[in-house]
Amino acid sequence: MKVLGIESSCDECAAAVVEDGVRILSNVVATQIPYHAAYRGVVPEIASRKHTEWIYDVCAAALRDAGLESARIDGVAATGRPGLTGSLLVGLGFAKAFAYARGLPFVSCDHILSHLYAAQFVQPPPAYPFLGLLVSGGHTLICRVDSFDAIDVLGGTVDDAAGEAFDKVARHFGWGYPGGKFVDALAAGGDAEAFDFPVARLARKGRRCDVSYSGLKTAVVNQLEQFRRRGAPGHIHPPDIAASFQKAAVETLLGALSNAVEDTGIATVVSGGGVAANSYLRERLFRLAGVRCIFPPPELCGDNAAMVAGIGYQYLSRGMTSPLTVAPAARVKAFQRR
Ligand code: KG4
Ligand code: ZN
Repeated sequence: MKVLGIESSCDECAAAVVEDGVRILSNVVATQIPYHAAYRGVVPEIASRKHTEWIYDVCAAALRDAGLESARIDGVAATGRPGLTGSLLVGLGFAKAFAYARGLPFVSCDHILSHLYAAQFVQPPPAYPFLGLLVSGGHTLICRVDSFDAIDVLGGTVDDAAGEAFDKVARHFGWGYPGGKFVDALAAGGDAEAFDFPVARLARKGRRCDVSYSGLKTAVVNQLEQFRRRGAPGHIHPPDIAASFQKAAVETLLGALSNAVEDTGIATVVSGGGVAANSYLRERLFRLAGVRCIFPPPELCGDNAAMVAGIGYQYLSRGMTSPLTVAPAARVKAFQRR
């Protein structure tokens, strides 16, 4: 069964064709980063406008790359929540129209579940249950994953998302947008022991698997202010700041994750989301004693439509569809399935 997947929850306009939930026939991602860079953050109005301009061509490119006529598609899946409402509306609306015009089954998918599905493209795919570590610009979540459609949230961030912390620090220092990959690259040439930035320990107060990033972000930003007050910004060695921040940010996650492993007895961790592309996080997770860690390939960590077409197949092949009246939702309170 060949499923066309569409993803437009934020600033990537993406379409992909996946066969039987496992074989990626095409995977097109058109990034809007240059259009938002001047604002150093995603501007929702620009995002939905660009999706509207691009969605047809991106879907056509996904079909072309897969070597398929639209008549050869067997089902359509699109991200329906959570995300920017105006952006979601474009991909979801296009998917519904495509499905309606071709008389195809259609399903609306959850973005979080889709990110957690991305590791199913790794060979051999991780067996359920496993622990999910979803770290992106909008989400930070540690969960028990029992199937493509069933997760139990064990913890999350009480303030900023992991990627948001990377982005805010990079923005403050003017390293580039979006910040994660710039921090990652800078840190490679820095000393992670140069600064002793705080690793949040929430276990005593909150849930054992919660994390917090606001204290770390403030500490890093204050470091720059201290240099400025001393009138010695020339002494700032950006790679040292990046490496020390990255170490604390990753150790924050590792602490909560270790608690999740201890509490559940599950020692397989599957990561996903843009921050899962971080080289230091990958290295530390691979070295974590007693834990087997699985990452999607870097191109499937960030927003993409292959993960949507993949999870979409799981629903559609079971006869689980969404009505064409389904509306996008910016947030989800609890995990609804479809
Ligand atoms: O999953 P994603 O593409 O979009 C959301 O659903 O949010 O994640 C984007 C986030 C951004 O915050 C970006 O800075 C971060 O992922 N990111 C990274 C790296 N590459 C992307 N963070 C740390 N290291 C990276 N190499
Ligand atoms: Zn995402």
